[in-house]
Amino acid sequence: MRLLLIGPPGSGKGTQADRIHDRLGTPHISSGDMLRDAVAQGTPLGQEADLYMSRGALVPDNLVIDIIMERISQPDAREGFLLDGFPRTVPQAKALEEALDMSGSKIDHVIAFDVPDEEIIVRSAGRRIDPVTNYIYHLEFNPPPPEIAPRLVQRSDDNAGTLQKRLRKYHEETSPILGYFAGKGILSTIDGLGSVAQVEERIYDALKYLT
Ligand code: AP5
Repeated sequence: MRLLLIGPPGSGKGTQADRIHDRLGTPHISSGDMLRDAVAQGTPLGQEADLYMSRGALVPDNLVIDIIMERISQPDAREGFLLDGFPRTVPQAKALEEALDMSGSKIDHVIAFDVPDEEIIVRSAGRRIDPVTNYIYHLEFNPPPPEIAPRLVQRSDDNAGTLQKRLRKYHEETSPILGYFAGKGILSTIDGLGSVAQVEERIYDALKYLT
């Protein structure tokens, strides 16, 4: 299954991708995680990406497209993948479709998360990441086991100013791709409010027709 997860920052894409991966074993490919790794390693890509990420802007299409195309060509992704945070622009969506077309495959489905901005602000403020497993927690809604709580970290872009810019970018540049995928008949928009388990079930309901 080649599944795309699209939604505003902090809407639950990474949380749900982790759970689908745990259940189905499909590789979880997060453009944000890959870019953060490159920033942490100080690679040329990371240094350039950081200029955009630190101010809540989108990293230029050509940089992101290259790393994602390289990643989905790896053997573990040949049978399918969960793409979290990519595509975010129409050129990214078209680049992905073209690459899949050339390998004789296609996007099976796109899940869009509908979560109001007020909830996004609460979720981002309480988000904490486990640097060892990359697992995502929330101090109140998805609390970590006590033994790992001391090692959790907060993302540097989870501050009020940067989050507002990321939300604006989402509404201006990413939400138009929902119409693009709706026109192809492969989009399901699901309510992203409710418990993590409830949202997960809505995703499987939307995907039932594929099995
Ligand atoms: P990226 O890392 O992709 O960030 P994002 O899209 O802003 O999404 P997040 O990772 O913030 O949130 P999420 O939807 O995964 O939510 P999560 O599951 O963590 O991108 C970061 C930056 O990289 C971008 O700003 C951009 O600069 C750059 N970038 C990345 N991809 C790019 C691309 N394709 N093109 C250009 N630039 C790109 O959940 C959030 C919190 O809510 C957690 O604490 C979680 O525990 C909690 N939570 C989850 N579900 C629920 C629930 N149902 N109820 C209550 N709490 C919940």
